Amino acid sequence: MDKIVIEGGKRLSGTIPVSGAKNAALTLLPCALLTDEPLTLRNLPRLADIDGFQHLMNQFGISTAIAGSRPEDFGRVMTLQATRITSSVAPYDLVRKMRASILVLGPMLARMGEATVSLPGGCAIGNRPIDLHLKVLEALGAQIEMAAGYVRAIAPDGGLPGGRFSFPVVSVGATENALMAAVLCTGTSTLHNAAREPEIVDLCNLLVAMGAQIEGIGTSDLTIHGVPRLHGATYMVMPDRIEAGSYACAAAITGGEVTLKGARIEDMEATVQALRDAGVTVEPRSDGLYVAAEGKLRPVTLSTAPFPGFATDMQAQLMALLCKAEGSSVLTETIFENRYMHVPELNRMGARIETKGRTAIVHGVDVLHGAEVMATDLRASMSLVIAGLAAQGETRVHRLYHLDRGYERLEEKLALLGAQIERIGGD
Ligand code: UD1
Repeated sequence: MDKIVIEGGKRLSGTIPVSGAKNAALTLLPCALLTDEPLTLRNLPRLADIDGFQHLMNQFGISTAIAGSRPEDFGRVMTLQATRITSSVAPYDLVRKMRASILVLGPMLARMGEATVSLPGGCAIGNRPIDLHLKVLEALGAQIEMAAGYVRAIAPDGGLPGGRFSFPVVSVGATENALMAAVLCTGTSTLHNAAREPEIVDLCNLLVAMGAQIEGIGTSDLTIHGVPRLHGATYMVMPDRIEAGSYACAAAITGGEVTLKGARIEDMEATVQALRDAGVTVEPRSDGLYVAAEGKLRPVTLSTAPFPGFATDMQAQLMALLCKAEGSSVLTETIFENRYMHVPELNRMGARIETKGRTAIVHGVDVLHGAEVMATDLRASMSLVIAGLAAQGETRVHRLYHLDRGYERLEEKLALLGAQIERIGGD
């Protein structure tokens, strides 16, 4: 299997583009199910998860075409058209590999009146149930049945009526599923305590471009007036705030200076605040975000939280950075249990991190050492790359399929900034 080999200690400097957001793309793609007209998405990142989702859409009989890239295109351009949907079943094999497949449940139900999706099963960063996805669809009028590891949602004759739902816990995915179902309901729906991550705003903006009527976009109270049909659209996927934050940590740990072209500060204020608290300079520029670090890093205390709080998807990367701070940082993970699997690996590189339940205490060290490491999820893997960039000697990161799920051209972008990094084949 491929691995990434990093010779640490090189200061990063220069400019790199930020790719389209993976998590936005994964909720924009299923919107193609909502109309028989073409949906063209621009700025899609080239990632294994996007290929996986394309495969899933093909399974439903949806045509997908990727345009040849032109210099004026950002990222990849894909046109999807669900003229006729030939299957409403998302099988176990595809859902198991890609948890975001659950996001077809809402739009498929709204368009076809029924949808069957395999239960996603366990996941490396915790239990990750889908009860809220099902409860909110029930509140919109669906009947839910479970059998043989599959969940089947059925709309009454005449379509889903719509309804009210108050989320007991903020859920990004359940809010997305609810929105994609509610836009085609016969009546009005209201969602309280909805997620308001920038990716949800991106989803709402696409749905509105397709003819949906949504009030309260960007807030936790959404009102959706159902419409009988949606039309096609051309839409540009938002920049990836997690990728941008990850490269900001990478630059900072090397005492570097980089510009992240296309990054939007308003999408990542909590990350920017954490970096500034650590002593890193972060400034918005007309073309993106400028990040620079020199001298000692300071420790930081924070908890992960739903947006606008500090994103759980940035916790591992910030932790890697704080390994080199002068003093002890305290990070608390409130969204997912079992999201500290990078800790033993970072400790093998010379970090001093203790965990107690959901809290991690990161005692800063002067030196990290290169090592053979592997992680069991995407962001954890990136934290090891970040540590490797600042470590003395060589770091080999194994299990690259995690990184390939979420970071487009990782080694190319880091090499562009001056990192000594390469991907090598073999076991
Ligand atoms: C999305 C992101 C993921 C990010 C997470 C939190 C995508 C493809 N993935 O995941 O990268 O880390 O948001 O920002 O966009 N929960 C329930 N029942 C449910 C659903 C969720 O209890 O039915 C709980 C989860 O276990 C978790 C919390 O709610 O504790 C938040 O999860 P959620 O926001 O749903 O995460 P995802 O949408 O799966």
